[in-house]
Amino acid sequence: MPTLLGVDHIAIAVEDLDQATDLWQQALGARLGPRETVESQGVELQMLYAGETRVELLRPLSPESPVGRFLTKRGPGLHHLALAVPECGDALEQARDAGLRTLSEEPVPGAHGTRVVFLHPGDTGGVLTELVEGGEGPWSSPQQETKA
Ligand code: CO
Repeated sequence: MPTLLGVDHIAIAVEDLDQATDLWQQALGARLGPRETVESQGVELQMLYAGETRVELLRPLSPESPVGRFLTKRGPGLHHLALAVPECGDALEQARDAGLRTLSEEPVPGAHGTRVVFLHPGDTGGVLTELVEGGEGPWSSPQQETKA
C-alpha cells in the first residue's frame, strides 16, 4: 500500500470561487493562499490554510470538466481528499497492485508543481482520493525527502 505522509488538502467543489473564498477567509478565518488555474484538470482553484491544513476550493472551467459534471450531478460540496505520498509513481503502482483503479495511467501535473494521481472512488469507499507528491506539508522538508 502507498506510504501516506498526511493529508495534503481537502477539496471542495464550488460554483462561485470569490464567494466561497470569502466564506472561508472572512467567516471561518482561514488564511488566503494562492489562486491558480490548472487547465489539465479543468479547474480554477483557491488554496486556503487552516493552520497546517489546506483547503482547496475548486471551480470548474467548463460544465464538461470532471468538477463541472460533479457540480451538475451533486451540487457544491466535498469533492476529494488528497493524501501526501513520497513518490507518486510508486504510490500509483502500489495502489494498482492492491486492486484499486486509477483515473490516469500515469501521474499527472497537479497544482503548483505537484504530481498527482486520483483513485477511483468506487474502490475507495465512495471517497475520491488524490495521491500527491511534492506538496507543501511539514513532511516536505529536504531531510524527510530522502526517505522516498
Ligand atoms: Co486536489
